[in-house]
Amino acid sequence: MLAIGILVSGRGTNLQSIIDAIEAKRINAEIKVVISNKPDALAVERAGKHGIPVEVITNEGFASREAYDAKLVEVLKGYGVELVVLAGYMRILTPGFIKAFPMRIMNIHPALLPSFPGLNVQKKAIEYGVRYSGCTVHFVTEEVDTGPIILQAPVPVLCDDTVESLSKRILTEELKLYPEAIGLFSEGKLEVRGRRVFIKEKE
Ligand code: GAR
Repeated sequence: MLAIGILVSGRGTNLQSIIDAIEAKRINAEIKVVISNKPDALAVERAGKHGIPVEVITNEGFASREAYDAKLVEVLKGYGVELVVLAGYMRILTPGFIKAFPMRIMNIHPALLPSFPGLNVQKKAIEYGVRYSGCTVHFVTEEVDTGPIILQAPVPVLCDDTVESLSKRILTEELKLYPEAIGLFSEGKLEVRGRRVFIKEKE
């Protein structure tokens, strides 16, 4: 069974979709630990309700981002984590962290990468005038939002969309896509070649 560690900072709807998929046995995995950099994140409460160990690690007392990330690696390895899942985790990981879990860190991003990396991307998609945006699950590499793409789901951008309405439509897809990607990983079906990810038995 795949041992997962999930990093969060906020409301935790993606975390919840992963918990639900595991509880419904749609993914053969166990969430060993949820780590939040924010003590008051709703995600912390969600994990607690399901009896999942939670560690709140704020950046207080750490001299550098490297020192903070070294602590995260220590905690994740301590729980035997094999796959690190970023679920609304709003800190950029240092190279040391990424090297500790090569092609074993996933992120979900609310746009169709490589379009609109970074923050506030639903607003950027509306302002740019694209007809489609969506979400992307990708492996995390040292450059932000550029790692090999695992799955994507497109979502139309409507003329009267607000940031809220588009974000909601994208989130609906996120909540399906992330469990699917984690499921494929847990079944050993993802093979990374260069920057392409091949899904075994599908291609
Ligand atoms: C999600 O929309 C996720 O795609 C986004 O933050 C939200 C977290 O919501 N992540 C990023 O923008 C990463 N750069 P959640 O806490 O309810 O899952």
